[in-house]
Amino acid sequence: MAQLDDFAFSDRHLVSIEALNRPSADSLLQMARHDARNGALDGCLAGRVVTTLFAETSTRTHMSFEIAAKRLGAHVINFAIQGSSMSKGESLRDTARTLDSMSPDIVVVRHRSVGAAAFLAGELRAHVVNAGDGPHQHPTQALLDAATLLDRLGTLEGVKIAICGDLRHSRVARSSAQLFHLLGAQVRLIGPPTLIPHDARAWGASLVTSDMDEGIAGCDVVMALRIQHERMGAGAYLSDRAEYRRFYGLDHARLNAAKPTALAMHPGPMNRGVEISAALADDPERCLVEAQVAMGVPVRMAVLAAVSGVRGSA
Ligand code: CP
Repeated sequence: MAQLDDFAFSDRHLVSIEALNRPSADSLLQMARHDARNGALDGCLAGRVVTTLFAETSTRTHMSFEIAAKRLGAHVINFAIQGSSMSKGESLRDTARTLDSMSPDIVVVRHRSVGAAAFLAGELRAHVVNAGDGPHQHPTQALLDAATLLDRLGTLEGVKIAICGDLRHSRVARSSAQLFHLLGAQVRLIGPPTLIPHDARAWGASLVTSDMDEGIAGCDVVMALRIQHERMGAGAYLSDRAEYRRFYGLDHARLNAAKPTALAMHPGPMNRGVEISAALADDPERCLVEAQVAMGVPVRMAVLAAVSGVRGSA
């Protein structure tokens, strides 16, 4: 593989988009969109061990990390929380240190606690990749969202992107807003007043509003977020689903009102008929959901390779 002198990602871990700068983000995205997809990374982690530790549910992220690791030639050990000593009350720290004693090369972790991946990065000898820490960060989702848009639009410079819905509980919103902003996009954040966190503007947004139609006007991309009922507890964040759909639901009419060529995104899993209509979710011309899922594998191949010290090709 020809080496890029200016391959700019040199971290041992990936726990947050905040750790990236423009050159390191560009390097990872280039590696994902080109090296991972043209086979240049196949087998580059042969003999390494990747452990996936998912203490929250996942379909897309877990599957794509496993497929990515296997394409890189690594052995994959899926750590099942049910049936492990965590279900007897062992702490994340003790569990992770126990795993580390068996010398995995990479630990991919998803956990409900903010900062769990950063904590493990400080504790373990293995490389740590954050697959989602509570409502905080989901850096590989942000990278796959950006890579999907780069495939479709060529650049994010000046592109107007609205992220809509349950901002308060969304690690995707925070991570993707930060990365889109880093890549030159104009980011707008839209949600019901109860679901806008106090620090939303600091994610790089040029506009934060509760008015969906004002927020999406003129946008090239509208990303709908899943309502995360499981993180809402007893708090009265939403009145009812029908009202939410009326004010914030994304369908063809609303997307066309943003811009006739606007594209819809959703990180999944979707509440069909609530934050996005079924007809729009199933329209591959206007909705990038399937392309986002497909991009998960090359992005995670690039991240697993890059934290291991593999550099991208020219
Ligand atoms: N987008 C996302 O993280 O999906 P999963 O929860 O299925 O991994």
